[in-house]
Amino acid sequence: MADVEERAQILIEALPYIQQFAGSTIVVKHGGSAMVDHELRRAVARDIVMMHFVGIRPVVVHGGGPRISAMMERLGIQPEFVRGLRVTTEQTMEVAQMVLVGSINKEIVSLINAEGGQAVGLSGKDANLIRTRKMESEADLGYVGEVESIDAGVLETLAASGYIAVVSPVGAGPKGESFNINADHAAAELAVAVGAAKLINLTDVPGILADPDDEESLISTLTLDEAQGLLGGEDIGEGMIPKLESAIRAVEGGVPRAHIIDGRIPHASLIEVFTDRGIGTMISADPSTDG
Ligand SMILES: Nc1ncnc2c1ncn2[C@@H]1O[C@H](COP(=O)(O)OP(=O)(O)OP(=O)(O)O)[C@@H](O)[C@H]1O
Ligand SMILES: [Mg+2]
Repeated sequence: MADVEERAQILIEALPYIQQFAGSTIVVKHGGSAMVDHELRRAVARDIVMMHFVGIRPVVVHGGGPRISAMMERLGIQPEFVRGLRVTTEQTMEVAQMVLVGSINKEIVSLINAEGGQAVGLSGKDANLIRTRKMESEADLGYVGEVESIDAGVLETLAASGYIAVVSPVGAGPKGESFNINADHAAAELAVAVGAAKLINLTDVPGILADPDDEESLISTLTLDEAQGLLGGEDIGEGMIPKLESAIRAVEGGVPRAHIIDGRIPHASLIEVFTDRGIGTMISADPSTDG
């Protein structure tokens, strides 16, 4: 087949997926660990712009774990984690906000804009998008917040006007204090609040691994029950715990499918949304249905 015909064929193969998802929201969580190089970040930005121009409403939520840790170390503060969550002192909170809202958010916004999108960066504080309260847990995690409520009005307004929202996982507490929210948890609550068709979590592993030391041990589909069963087990380590919780929360909250995929693969989210190739781990109430 001539080269141009092949290209047309590839484009037309995306048609059923474009028809399925046009008009719906897809929440993409871009993990800090998957932001390994500029070309990869640019590919993610292009995927987002592509989704936007075929009529999908993408909402980006980003993490920034490694960048926050690097900045803390530069300032002589030792990062500490409990069950994948960063212990957040007042000083750490200041650093986290600076890196997430000041640096990473604006970098993603600029990349999307450079690809022809119109991105607007927000933190959870803006227009009360994410009201936050202190997360209570056995260990005192300091300013680690959990989502109290979402007011998705600003996301609706932005999407309706053709803007792409990029959200930093920082929220305000009842007294206006800042809280650091795990980006996976924030993405799930946002996906539920906007009634997303999918939650895609881009990370730095192929998906959920049955054995975290073996990249070949990918679990490709999980039902809610199976996902909950895994959560307590010792094979789900730090980092993957909030992701699994996030996927469970999203699906329980009515998001049909949550995906944890390898953000190191260029255009991973395009492959996920627009082809019949299932990549990574898909969590759904009923995984027998495809897509
Ligand atoms: N069973 C498992 N399967 C896959 N990965 C696992 C598992 N258990 C633990 N992990 C770890 O989870 C990590 C991903 O979580 P991590 O929080 O580091 O990245 P991220 O959430 O994508 O980035 P950020 O926190 O900056 O948003 C993997 O790099 C891996 O080391
Ligand atoms: Mg993480």
